[in-house]
Amino acid sequence: MDQILLILFIIFCLSIPNFYAQQNYSGNSVTNCDNNDETGPSPAFLYTCNGRKQSCQAFLIFKSQPPYDTVTSISNLTSSDPSEVAHINNITNSAEVLPPDKEVIVPVICSCSGQYYQANTSFTIPTNDDTYFTIAQNTYQGLTSCDILLRENNYSATSLNPGLILQIPLRCACPTSNQAVNGTKFLLTYSVGSVDNVYDICERFNVSIRSVVHANGFTENVLDGPVLFPFTTILIPLSTEPLSSQTTIHYPPPPYSSPLIPLSRYNIRSSNRLYVWTGIGISLLVIFFVLSIVLLHYKKKRNEAAQKIRKGKGKEDLPEEFLLRIANIDQGLKFYKYEEINAATENFSTKNMIGSSVYCGILNGETVAIKKMIKNVCKEVNLLKKINHFNIISLYGACEHHEVFYLVYEFMENGSLKDLLHKKSAPEVESWNCRIQIAVDVAHGLLYLHNFTDTGYVHKDISSSNVLLDKHLRAKIANFSLARSAVRGESGNVSTKTALGTKGYMAPEYIEYGLVTPEMDTYSFGVVLIELVTGKEAVYKQDGEEVLLAEAVFSAMEGGNVEAKLGCLIDPNLQAKNKMEFALRIIKLSLACLSQEPESRPSMAEVVSSLLKIQLDVQRTEPFFWNGFV
Ligand SMILES: *[C@@H]1O[C@H](CO)[C@@H](O)[C@H](O)[C@H]1NC(C)=O
Ligand SMILES: *[C@@H]1O[C@H](CO)[C@@H](O)[C@H](O)[C@H]1NC(C)=O
Ligand SMILES: *[C@@H]1O[C@H](CO)[C@@H](O)[C@H](O)[C@H]1NC(C)=O
Ligand SMILES: *[C@@H]1O[C@H](CO)[C@@H](O)[C@H](O)[C@H]1NC(C)=O
Ligand SMILES: *[C@@H]1O[C@H](CO)[C@@H](O)[C@H](O)[C@H]1NC(C)=O
Ligand SMILES: *[C@@H]1O[C@H](CO)[C@@H](O)[C@H](O)[C@H]1NC(C)=O
Ligand SMILES: *[C@@H]1O[C@H](CO)[C@@H](O)[C@H](O)[C@H]1NC(C)=O
Repeated sequence: MDQILLILFIIFCLSIPNFYAQQNYSGNSVTNCDNNDETGPSPAFLYTCNGRKQSCQAFLIFKSQPPYDTVTSISNLTSSDPSEVAHINNITNSAEVLPPDKEVIVPVICSCSGQYYQANTSFTIPTNDDTYFTIAQNTYQGLTSCDILLRENNYSATSLNPGLILQIPLRCACPTSNQAVNGTKFLLTYSVGSVDNVYDICERFNVSIRSVVHANGFTENVLDGPVLFPFTTILIPLSTEPLSSQTTIHYPPPPYSSPLIPLSRYNIRSSNRLYVWTGIGISLLVIFFVLSIVLLHYKKKRNEAAQKIRKGKGKEDLPEEFLLRIANIDQGLKFYKYEEINAATENFSTKNMIGSSVYCGILNGETVAIKKMIKNVCKEVNLLKKINHFNIISLYGACEHHEVFYLVYEFMENGSLKDLLHKKSAPEVESWNCRIQIAVDVAHGLLYLHNFTDTGYVHKDISSSNVLLDKHLRAKIANFSLARSAVRGESGNVSTKTALGTKGYMAPEYIEYGLVTPEMDTYSFGVVLIELVTGKEAVYKQDGEEVLLAEAVFSAMEGGNVEAKLGCLIDPNLQAKNKMEFALRIIKLSLACLSQEPESRPSMAEVVSSLLKIQLDVQRTEPFFWNGFV
């Protein structure tokens, strides 16, 4: 009872309209590299220049990651003073290799440049695989953004080559007058990791939750605090310089742990912590007042619930157990009533059916796709609700009714890539431009997924039927029911169950040993690439015999007369000049993805960068000839 009151109280506190928002949290907008800020500063770029001073001392938190795991290399990466970095982190030897994921405090000078605050540094592109996205998200851990990199640098996204020097504005900010009055002297830009939550961060840096909520414009009235996305930053207002004792080492979760990472946040320990922290600084009078309101409200609710149960309508309430298993209710995710789902799909009528167990319907005025599932969906929900990448299908909400689960997704007008390539005749997908864009989209989605948490996630079932296309024929990855976290390690990650997946797409090491690594997605992606070029299905019939597409292409590449043999395989509908040249480049890339040895396959970052180069050349020869793309 006490705990419930407490939680309700906290919800109340966090849902107070935020009049003092100093900066707005970017959320996951930073994963989409085509935001614009024409109507005013956008947190997808940098923090707004709205402080009392034009320039100030600020701090960043960077997590050591090879090759940036010494004071020397980190201060070089961030253009900060090595002796200051060493001193503030209490490290005596600048060349000492720090453990992976150790937080390092980086002092920087933050100043206004136009409408944004920034700390300048520069970066020499080390390899061929780097894109603005990987530099912002992986190398700089979200301390900069691809939008601002694109703007500040003269090079197009496709012309990044090793040795080029990029200007990197880092995210930082100076206190506003409002914050200064309350004793804030510095703002620390904290790069969020996959298991971070606001309460732990506040506790470590000895700051009030309230000040952090205000500093970042959080308004989420959620039990578990605002939802934080990995590779984004939040600002922590400090009244003194940060101390090395406040930093920590983020140990990766133990191998074979449950992939339901966010679950751990919903525990008694953190509820207790909430108690301590919210208690600070709030007068007893206010607590008493709020508690009485809450108590009254709670009693009323309980009476209502009791009445409903008496009337036999209790089941229509939110399924408590389901909610708890979903672990934390965040604002982005809705819990629908069965009646709403039923009405939206017109009683699950066959005319609303768009796939096996998938229906379309209109919920709150918006067309959505509703997937009906018997098995427990908590895993998929827990993963998808944290991911919000443009190339990964968005989950809007969920519903449970008599042990059947319903997941509500964004609706994809053009259906699956498989249907579009193999069933419908769709003139729009007959151009290289379109097909390359689909390949780039899927590769971007996978790149994000593989780097999404400390361990990364593996989709495990990439296939053309799990790639969906929106009305502009932009591709998104769907169906995460097999997805799981990958533990990158010497021995990989062995799944004891029999191999589940789609025939024709499964990597050999997975079929044989059940090895689950991000490279298995790379393999499946290779098959999708070949489908895009050949228009053939991953497993197709030829002279009454089943042929695996991947094998057909391998044998075409062997021996002589490759061009003629490939010529027979390439989709005759594909309209293009220089057809053979592009087909060969893509097939070479896909064959690399299809290497028997997982370690010889390219990383998704390499795949993205190769595809972007091909895309650039395609665009040079083939002007856009329909209105689908912007
Ligand atoms: C935060 O967002 C709100 C609403 O979009 C906007 O009015 C406000 O100016 C933004 N604040 C900053 C600091 O950008
Ligand atoms: C970082 O190191 C490289 C060479 O290792 C050097 O060229 C570059 O100027 C250094 N950058 C800074 C900011 O010190
Ligand atoms: C710095 O590290 C040393 C040990 O390496 C420790 O004894 C000392 O207390 C630390 N100082 C601070 C301020 O944390
Ligand atoms: C940082 O770089 C921007 C342009 O890239 C420049 O306008 C600004 O003056 C620089 N700031 C400092 C403090 O050097
Ligand atoms: C950026 O590109 C423009 C034209 O493309 C060129 O005139 C300008 O000198 C370039 N600036 C830098 C800093 O390279
Ligand atoms: C936390 O901050 C308060 C003032 O806000 C201070 O009195 C207290 O000593 C700090 N605690 C630690 C452990 O630094
Ligand atoms: C500063 O303090 C005042 C009153 O103590 C409070 O109302 C306000 O929200 C605080 N502002 C911030 C940014 O924390």
